[in-house]
Amino acid sequence: MANNILVLNGPNLNLLGSREPDIYGPTTLADIERDLTAEAAARRIRISFYQSNHEGALVDRIQAARGEGVDFMIINAGALTHTSIALRDALAAVGIPFIEVHLSNVYRREEFRRRSFMADLAVGVVAGLGAAGYRCALRYALDLGPSGAG
Ligand code: DQA
Repeated sequence: MANNILVLNGPNLNLLGSREPDIYGPTTLADIERDLTAEAAARRIRISFYQSNHEGALVDRIQAARGEGVDFMIINAGALTHTSIALRDALAAVGIPFIEVHLSNVYRREEFRRRSFMADLAVGVVAGLGAAGYRCALRYALDLGPSGAG
């Protein structure tokens, strides 16, 4: 079971709620973070959040996670999922288990969204479940964990 979870969100996810709501839904990032905070608090688990529109800032945050004792990450890297070797390398470097999350079903959209530079490093990928995908990922981290039955 994870004890110290970091939730990372990449470019444009700060606009959730107003951004293409037909694709990404009406829920804001603040709503998602509030929901996850409540779930983690009920389980007495440490959870922290970081969103950036900048690739390098996300790389820095991933690198810092190791020194902070983060033992599981939930990541929606947005468009950087499909482009960023730097993020992939950072994830490989720290070796912290993570779940890749996408609100939309990237496999039902444009061809370029089907490629992820990090999915093969991930414990799993959740796509198309909207904001509930983050909750599913957290439940996995809390109930099953990296060494769980998943
Ligand atoms: C996304 C899917 C990406 O293709 C897109 O660039 C995003 C959001 C999702 O959550 O569905 O920014 O990661």
